[in-house]
Amino acid sequence: MTALTVNERPVRIEIDPQTPLLWALRDAANLTGTKYGCGVGDCGACMVLVDGEALRSCLITLAEAEGRYITTIEGLSRDRSHPVQQALVAEQAIQCGYCTPGIAIAAASLLARNPAPSEDEIKQAVPNLCRCGVYPRLVRAIQRAGR
Ligand code: FES
Repeated sequence: MTALTVNERPVRIEIDPQTPLLWALRDAANLTGTKYGCGVGDCGACMVLVDGEALRSCLITLAEAEGRYITTIEGLSRDRSHPVQQALVAEQAIQCGYCTPGIAIAAASLLARNPAPSEDEIKQAVPNLCRCGVYPRLVRAIQRAGR
C-alpha cells in the first residue's frame, strides 16, 4: 500500500508501487482528468503538481510519489476555476481539449513562481504538445491569467 496526499486528501493506493503515478491516479484513484498522451515524457498531457512542481506523471512511479503532495487538474482550484482555466476559456485556447489539463497544471506552476512571464519563459515552462496547434492563444491566455 502506498500513501500519498492527492488534492489535499490522504489517499492509500493498493497497486504495484512501480506503477506510473499517471495510472495510479487514473485507475486506482479515479482521477481521470490527468491524461495519457505518449507515456514517455514527451507530450505533457499527464502533468500534475508534485509538491508544487509540474511533473510528468507517466515518468514517476507510485513509490516515488509516496508521502508527497499531488495536485491534479481536479484539485487545481476549490470553488471556482483557477485563473489559468478562466483565461484559457477567455482566449479560446482550448480546441479538442485533450492537452488542456496538463497545460493548466504547467501554467499554474509557472505563474505561482512568475506572475508575468515572457513568451519565451512560457514556452520553456509549458512545453506541452498541442495537436490542435493553439500555441499563440495559449501564450496569450497564460499571460492574461497572470495579470
Ligand atoms: Fe506523460 Fe506524454 S503521457 S508526457
